[in-house]
Amino acid sequence: MKRIRSVGIVGTGSYVPPNILTNSDLEKMVDTSDTWIVERTGIRERRISSPETTASCLGLPASLAALQSAGVSPEDVDLIIVATSTPDMTFPSTACFIQDKIGASRAACFDISAACTGFSYALETGQQFIATSTYKTALIVGTEVISKVIDWTDRNTCILFGDGAGAAVLQPVADNYGILATSLGADGRLASILDLPVAGCIRMSGREVFKVAVNTMIEAVEKVLDRAKISQKDVSLLIPHQANIRIIEAMGKRLNISTDRVFVNLQKYGNVSAGSTIIALDEAVKQGRVGDGDIIVIVAFGGGLTWGATVMRWGGNL
Ligand code: UT7
Repeated sequence: MKRIRSVGIVGTGSYVPPNILTNSDLEKMVDTSDTWIVERTGIRERRISSPETTASCLGLPASLAALQSAGVSPEDVDLIIVATSTPDMTFPSTACFIQDKIGASRAACFDISAACTGFSYALETGQQFIATSTYKTALIVGTEVISKVIDWTDRNTCILFGDGAGAAVLQPVADNYGILATSLGADGRLASILDLPVAGCIRMSGREVFKVAVNTMIEAVEKVLDRAKISQKDVSLLIPHQANIRIIEAMGKRLNISTDRVFVNLQKYGNVSAGSTIIALDEAVKQGRVGDGDIIVIVAFGGGLTWGATVMRWGGNL
């Protein structure tokens, strides 16, 4: 029987491409306005990668930054899991491309497909491998070149998304630190309200997605807090999927988590799908908003529909 041990994030990194697409740029492309986009979504600009850039290109600097912040060398990585809806190829996995680029020659590699919930699914998967002592060090990456699967004539979707990548290093941590509880869910009956056909573009019934997103994310957060026996008032920082400020505000309000404890960066990047929450977590760490012993909750939803929440106590690095 394998030993169950505590597992936590011991390093984070992120990278977004330099090219900025503003709302006023979009006004010239489709029938929209900066005012509409800001009022309905909170988004002001997003990053767009160059035509030759792939998901592994963005994942590379994010991964190196995460490894550096964890003080881990690429040869020490046992496992790489990449969450993406825009892989470099159908196969090899984007994880294999990142393995080669960073020189993590010992690592097992695979990708996970759970749309915008991808990072939450990948985090829990990596956690299981380390908790059971199968592996000691996992690199979990969320990376997207979502601009390449956008219909730039569809104002319902093209204003929402942006490119970017984030990465986290997972290792064993001290007891009572790290990931305390996770809840993942899916409802395949709702597949058609948000999808990305093979060789196609993202299609979405925004209003329907909105309603399900708020309800499922609230339930997922309540479930993990209950499982970890942590009260809403003890949450130091909520890191929600950065899709729409109105979704985030509705969730914070119903969960009774004040806005100063909710991290938001969607105004700069839009919805980066599987990169969203890990880029946000990395920025929160860099801004000094995540300290030792803090209770952090990550929550996301996306195509599938899928959703997931994770509660962790930050720190406890061994
Ligand atoms: O990771 C998951 C990704 N998906 C999401 O997070 C989507 C969740 N949903 C949303 O964020 C919102 O539903 C949207 C931002 C997509 C849309 O906001 P909404 O308040 O639900 O607007 P709506 O779809 O109900 O559309 C209201 C009006 C419509 O016009 P009519 O029919 O009332 O005349 C739309 O045609 O706004 C129009 N509209 C726009 N107008 C200007 C839709 N997109 C635009 C636009 N600019 N870009």
